[in-house]
This record gives sequence, C-alpha cells and structure tokens, in this order.
Amino acid sequence: MPRAPRIYIETYGCQMNVSDSELMFGVLGREGYVRTEDPAEADVLLVNTCAVRDHAEQRVLGRMGELKRYKRPGDVLGVVGCMAQRLGPKLLERVPQVDLVIGPDGYRGLPELIARAREGERAAETTFRSWEHYEDVPPVRERQVSAFVTVQRGCDYRCTFCIVPMTRGPERSRKLADVVREVSGLAESGTSEVTLLGQTVNSYHDGDHDFADLLRAVGAVAGIRRLRFTSPYATDFTPRVLAAMAETPAVCEHVHLPVQSGSSRTLKRMLRRYDREAYLEVVRALREAIPGIALSTDIIVGFPGETEADFAETLSLVEQVAFDDAYTFKYSVREGTPAVRIKDHVAEEIKTERIGRLIQVVRHVAKQKNIALVGTTHDVLVEGPAKRGGLLQARTRTNKIALLEGPTDWIGTYVNVRFTGTTGSTFTAMREALVESWQ
Ligand code: 5AD
Repeated sequence: MPRAPRIYIETYGCQMNVSDSELMFGVLGREGYVRTEDPAEADVLLVNTCAVRDHAEQRVLGRMGELKRYKRPGDVLGVVGCMAQRLGPKLLERVPQVDLVIGPDGYRGLPELIARAREGERAAETTFRSWEHYEDVPPVRERQVSAFVTVQRGCDYRCTFCIVPMTRGPERSRKLADVVREVSGLAESGTSEVTLLGQTVNSYHDGDHDFADLLRAVGAVAGIRRLRFTSPYATDFTPRVLAAMAETPAVCEHVHLPVQSGSSRTLKRMLRRYDREAYLEVVRALREAIPGIALSTDIIVGFPGETEADFAETLSLVEQVAFDDAYTFKYSVREGTPAVRIKDHVAEEIKTERIGRLIQVVRHVAKQKNIALVGTTHDVLVEGPAKRGGLLQARTRTNKIALLEGPTDWIGTYVNVRFTGTTGSTFTAMREALVESWQ
C-alpha cells in the first residue's frame, strides 16, 4: 500500500487561525492526508499566517526561508491565511519556493491547488466567498479538553488601523442549529469547554438568532460546563446578551474586551463605535450582570496623532478598569487601511517608550489583583502538562492560569484548588478536592 501523504501546518496569529488550521486538516483528511508534527517528513507544508502587524509578516517571511529547506522534489509549500490573502500573487514572486497561496475563504480549493502544484503550476487563490462557512467540513482537532468553534467569519467593522476586513472579507454567521450540532458532537466525545470564535463575536446574527440565543443554546448542550467567546465588541453587549450571560451557568466569568485606547479622541479616529465613557459603561454593565467577572483587553499605542495626553488617558483607563490582563501593541502601518492617510505618525522611539510604560502599569494593576487572590479557592479545568517543572496547567473560569502538582490522569478533569502563590500573572495551586462531575 502506498504511504499516506503527510501534511504539516504551522499556525501563527489568532485563535481563528488555530481553528482554520483544524479545518484545513479536515479538508485534507478527506483526501487521505495524515497530520505530522515534523516538517522533514511532510509532503505538504503550509504556513497559516497573520497580517495584523508587520512584525507578524516579517516572522513568517523569515520562517519561509527555513521551511523551504524541508521541501523535497514533489513536495508542496504553501502560504495560507491573512497574509496570503493580503499579498496574493506577490508572495509567489517574493518567495520562489512557494507553490500555492490561499486566503481564508479558499481552503476548499486546497486539494486542487496541491495537485496543480505537483504539476508545476504555482497559483494564488484570494477570492472572497461571503457564503463560505465550511459547514460540511468536519474540523480535525488536536485539543480534546477544550475546543474552539468558529461561529462567525469575516468582519464588517471598519476600524481604521485594521487589515482584517481586507483579509477575511465580509461578516457572516453560521446557523445556530449547525453550531449546536457541532458542540453536541464535541461534548459527546468528552470536550467540556468551548470557545466561540468570531471577529466581533457578539454581533453574531444568523438571520433568526442573535448572540444571546446562541449563548443560551450552546450553554444548554449536555456536557458543556464552560462556555467562552472571543473577541466581543464593546457596544454589541446588548441587554439581551448580558442577560443570556448572567442566566447561562456555563458562561465563564471572563471577557476579553478590546479597548484599543483610553482616549475618546483617538477612539474616534480609530472609528471605534464607542468613546471612553461608553466603554466604561459597558464594563460597569458587565460587572453588574456577572459579579466577579475578569476583564482583559487589547491596546494599541502610537496610533497616528496620539499625543502624550491621549496616551496618559490610556494609562488611566487601565488603572480605572483594573484589567486582569492586557495585550499591548505598537501601532503598525497596514497598507490599504484608512489610518495610513492620517497625519502625524508617531515616531518609533516614542511608541517603544510608551509601550514600556504601559506594560509596567498593566503588570502592576494585574499583580495587585492577583496578590489579593492568593489563598482563595477555585474550580480549575486541568488542561495538560505545564511547560516546566513537571507540573500540570489548569485554568479558572476567570481565565487565571494555575500550576499544580498532580497525576496526569487529572488532565481533562475539574479540580478544586487553593491558590498558594502568584508570580503576579500566574498562580501556584494545591488541590482541595476533586470536583464532582455534573452528569
Ligand atoms: N497595529 C497594531 N496593532 C493592531 N491590532 C490590529 N491592527 C493593528 C495594527 N495595525 C491589534 C488590535 C487588535 C489585535 C488583535 O491586534 O489591538 O485587537
């Protein structure tokens, strides 16, 4: 029997890329491909890319230089994802070893483009298909305990800094019943935590049902103990969505709520649909609806025209909200986005200086909150081995990471732990009791 062809996918960027790679394993699994973790033994090598910042693209270009060495005669090297969509055929010119380039709506075409590459034809596929949900493609997932489920693709928002509308195309939502069916299948195979994915996930609407309906329906699936979603948009937390969150026990007490800036002047020029006060009002409403909710965020520093006074407002917002965590980015010029044309681009040294100060404030605020949690008890889901120290990594409903000693058969189970210490961001923990299964 001939050896089954091997597929290697390296994934960069957001959770949706992780989910899209699972879809690609699904598309190619149907063609008889088996997955490999070793690029040296792969027949097809794909790099699933991010285009949100220049840094992400530079990393991929560097990595292509390394991966091309694994390409034996007859092998296929492809670039997929947002950078593939953004650059299209230019990538074929730039990296001569690349055989195929496919954007996020074109993964169905993988088998065909791979076959054509084997015939020596190099091609780029970057058509948007606003109907594409990959509904008939069962994703092949690696993670068992917790799963990502894409519920919405594309983005209709027009934030002036962001390339995503240009790489992922128009917003579209899967049908609620299809999502529920997929989650039920996951629960039956032992997954108890799901994270619903979308670029502005709480603007989900399938024509009949909104995000509130979706949360209630997924939260009602037997076996789903934890329900998360990312990333929501502040002003899409309608009273209906807040009520669904509060009334659905599986919905976890954590929301990642990208703010981008604490300055209303900057937010306006970013074309965000809220100002500082409106964002703070959403935070207040979330805290009222879900007591004890943890909040994390994304922040951009050095957006064109950002003054020291604007930046100071971002620092004060971090303190005022007291975020549990924040991802901080230096503004990166993305060709084709409206912000390119805004005057007064901020000098690189100033961005570097500002992000340094911001990280200090973020860490300080998070540390104060986390120190106050030492000694408290939490139900954690044990996710797997920790990276170091022979410990297990577990997560609270509030998205805090705890490391604990325990046997590997705790993986996938819920354990009640007491936090014994903190680094400021993660915790050490000890088991108090095994949590009884719900079912
Ligand atoms: N420059 C810097 N950061 C960006 N992000 C998106 N576009 C840019 C850009 N041009 C950040 C935002 C977003 C996160 C995923 O990436 O904070 O929430």
